[in-house]
Amino acid sequence: MIIKPLHLPTDSNELVRLHLSINGEDTDENVIQFYLEYGGDVWVVHFEGKIIGFSALSKCLWNKISIIEGMAIDKKFQNRGFGKNLLDFVVKHAKHRGDRFITVQTATWNKKGIKFYEREGFVSKIVFEKYFGNEIDMVWLEMKLNE
Ligand SMILES: CC(C)(COP(=O)(O)OP(=O)(O)OC[C@H]1O[C@@H](n2cnc3c(N)ncnc32)[C@H](O)[C@@H]1OP(=O)(O)O)[C@@H](O)C(=O)NCCC(=O)NCCS
Repeated sequence: MIIKPLHLPTDSNELVRLHLSINGEDTDENVIQFYLEYGGDVWVVHFEGKIIGFSALSKCLWNKISIIEGMAIDKKFQNRGFGKNLLDFVVKHAKHRGDRFITVQTATWNKKGIKFYEREGFVSKIVFEKYFGNEIDMVWLEMKLNE
């Protein structure tokens, strides 16, 4: 696998396709624009000539916190360590730029995602109930990077 910065417009269609396959109808057609506007750090995972994963990182400037806005591996390529490699890369990037913490939010039903982050050293800190005004509860996970 190779992790590369998002290259537009070349990567655009494949990234939207990947997003659709993970998030289905919740995918906003402007998803790439959203990620770029809210941070600018978007990476894609290339494997066997295809894009099989991505991650987007934004930053809360005043308190030096990196925020994972999105991270996913194509279903067909999950459980092979690609996610771990991508997360390691993102965490290293956040640490290298001097951020104090890295955080991510995901729905409490996403047991696999929560386990994935916790295995890497993230700690579940707080649950926001009915986050979107519906039944979805969100958990905030974080990992300390630098003092
Ligand atoms: C969460 C997500 C990114 C993990 O990606 P992944 O590539 O499957 O992650 P990994 O392969 O590193 O680890 C997943 C499992 O595979 C196992 N694994 C890793 N390499 C393996 C290998 N070579 N052989 C067998 N199992 C392996 C890991 O031990 C882990 O097992 P566990 O869940 O029992 O602990 C992926 O499931 C995903 O895209 N989910 C949907 C989107 C999402 O929830 N994103 C996170 C919230 S923002």
